[in-house]
Amino acid sequence: TLAKKGFPENFLWGGATAANQLEGGYNLGGKGLSTADMIAHVPKELRKGGHAMDITSDRIEQILAGEIEERFPKRHGIDFYHRFKEDIALFAEMGFKVFRMSIHWARIFPNGYDEVPNEEGLKFYDEVFDELHKYGIEPLVTLSHYETPLGLTQKYNGWAGREVIDHYVRYAETVFKRYKDKVKYWLTFNEINVMLISPYTGGGILVDKVDNKLQTAFQALHHQFVASALVTKLAHEIIPGSQVGCMLARMETYPKTCNPEDVRLAQQENQINLFFTDVHARGKYPNYMARYFEENNVVIERQPGDDEILINNTVDFISFSYYMSVTKSASADEEEVAGNLAGGVKNPYLEASDWGWEIDPIGLRVTLNNLWDRYNKPLFIVENGLGAYDKIEEDGSIHDTYRMDYLRKHIEQMNEAIKDGVELMGFTSWGPIDLVSMSTSEMSKRYGFIYVDLDDAGNGTLERSKKDSFEWFKNVIATNGEVL
Ligand code: BG6
Repeated sequence: TLAKKGFPENFLWGGATAANQLEGGYNLGGKGLSTADMIAHVPKELRKGGHAMDITSDRIEQILAGEIEERFPKRHGIDFYHRFKEDIALFAEMGFKVFRMSIHWARIFPNGYDEVPNEEGLKFYDEVFDELHKYGIEPLVTLSHYETPLGLTQKYNGWAGREVIDHYVRYAETVFKRYKDKVKYWLTFNEINVMLISPYTGGGILVDKVDNKLQTAFQALHHQFVASALVTKLAHEIIPGSQVGCMLARMETYPKTCNPEDVRLAQQENQINLFFTDVHARGKYPNYMARYFEENNVVIERQPGDDEILINNTVDFISFSYYMSVTKSASADEEEVAGNLAGGVKNPYLEASDWGWEIDPIGLRVTLNNLWDRYNKPLFIVENGLGAYDKIEEDGSIHDTYRMDYLRKHIEQMNEAIKDGVELMGFTSWGPIDLVSMSTSEMSKRYGFIYVDLDDAGNGTLERSKKDSFEWFKNVIATNGEVL
């Protein structure tokens, strides 16, 4: 056979978002509160590395009692709730083939454990999907993107409680039945590995209420793995031709040197990261985790039948976010750097973004090859992009060459990976329209091709305008990745 050349004809180009960072309307249309609605803007001086953070039960109570005078930007997003038609028209103008979004679970089941879904919430997404289809844009829908209904946190301490599996399955069944003719691509949990960094972000878990954070995180993950497999099965039954993927924050990890100590450390880090896709794609816990669990005193409670559920319902494809690579060193005196979810030590060959994330396009080719070799399942890059400060010129234009450079270099490496034989379904760049940052809830960290007039203090007209990268990405799609 001949080596593959460019991007396949049906390659899915587009952009990726999450309801809690985009929609706003947090108390409209019958929506209940979610864990994301409790997260305040973190002023720069107070940030500790910029990662997703846990919050305490006391703080939740204070927020609910109205005692905290801080801003909660994820409640307001960029008002996609009212402006989705205008925004989707802009995505269509760029030629999007696919749009990744999440359903805000608390819009459908306001408390998470309700018996009956909220019709107004269901109607909202009907309208969004119809609008996308009007332009031939395929929705790619995440069922849970860091936005667990707060009711589930209050009642079960989130995914720490096994009961949440049933509520999630009911939610998934409801939306699968409702949207079976509108959505065929689904993701079960965004960046499922975030649970090990922040159980609140990943599972709505208040860590001050548990004895052992690591033990709880792995137990909650077991619940999510079972839930993910159950809804994969359901999607296949309810929506013929549907495709369900898992979603990992991929951390391609390098050894700092060829010292075998460093090499082994990097291998171990890669294993802990790939544990999540191993379970989803191979349908069972990998052997290397048994030792890890033993050494860390983690005991996972399983119910009879769990193993069968996992093995019989593996995912159709593997999706992941990729912003950076990570470098690890066994030596204690290395300079630490930041990263999305987790950082490592400084890699002297790489430059970093304004937020300290080390930019590594070749690492994307490496990771694509590694994932393909390991699983032989189609891959989908569902997040990649550069968070940057944008400068508006007097005439309103924004010359974001840095963003185009970042994306160009990553798309080039995707093309190399395709030539290496990797099967890649698509690419959705993160935040095609500026939205609220996950880690810091700020607006200044912008990823978009479309600028949104909104600042960190919540001021602005919310007006949308095109950055230079808008025309550039439009042309990338029009030429199917030929002209970068
Ligand atoms: C991923 C998340 O971790 O990274 C997104 O899935 C997030 O929700 C993105 O927005 C970028 O992170 P940040 O902190 O720059 O918004």
